[in-house]
Amino acid sequence: MPESATVGVFDSGVGGLSVLREIRGLLPSESLLYVADSGHVPYGEKSADFIRERSHHIAEFLLDQGAKALVLACNTATVAAVADLRERYPQLPIVGMEPAVKPAAAATRSGVVGVLATTGTLKSAKFAALLDRFAADVRVVTQPCPGLVERIEAGDLMGPDTRELLAGYVDPLLAEGCDTLILGCTHYPFLRPLLHQMVPDSVSLIDTGAAVARQVQRLLDSHGLLAEGSAEPCRFWSSGNPAAMQEVLPVLWGEPAQVDKLPA
Ligand code: DGL
Repeated sequence: MPESATVGVFDSGVGGLSVLREIRGLLPSESLLYVADSGHVPYGEKSADFIRERSHHIAEFLLDQGAKALVLACNTATVAAVADLRERYPQLPIVGMEPAVKPAAAATRSGVVGVLATTGTLKSAKFAALLDRFAADVRVVTQPCPGLVERIEAGDLMGPDTRELLAGYVDPLLAEGCDTLILGCTHYPFLRPLLHQMVPDSVSLIDTGAAVARQVQRLLDSHGLLAEGSAEPCRFWSSGNPAAMQEVLPVLWGEPAQVDKLPA
């Protein structure tokens, strides 16, 4: 493994930056690569075949750049592609994501849990299996959120259009008695400040970014791949408009950085 070996992270767009931040926080020695497939966002309404094809393309690119591990920082890509990628790269540490059903079922006091996620995640067999396994004793109300990812891609985290769209998804969950909301798409943690204005303090918001970072740490450790010393600056690529991503990076990543075009 070359010393420059990196952790390759990807999402349909900028949402996976919410996960990348957790990885950077927990593993500051790891050099990170990030691909936003913003030319094809949103994945939520696309076919599993299409998302699998994109995931293979991006995985190959990240491996060519020296990735020693892959993180699918996208719930929708995980249900469509993680099994395929693991089959194709059996030796490679690969981490996927799933909505936080288990911790939410443990946390709810009202016994009603809401799940905000993409259509692709909510209709998948993997999600149904997750509910069977961890949510037998609670009522789960699911809410697909078309249009929300596009607002976040545009960097509109607090504006009136985003607020109105989000309220249309969250209010019915509150009316059902949900006291725990799962943010089941990696874009949605960026809406936490807005959500806090919209839901009572008694409602918990749960995502799995931190848990995924811990899983990356465990997997790298068990493969003897944990980096030491100081990391290289994170490198970014977008299949969409790199300049647009560059504009939202200071807010979503916390600092400016160059974004290159992902080769077709
Ligand atoms: N961020 C993604 C997820 O976690 C997908 C959003 C989309 O492109 O629809 O599901």
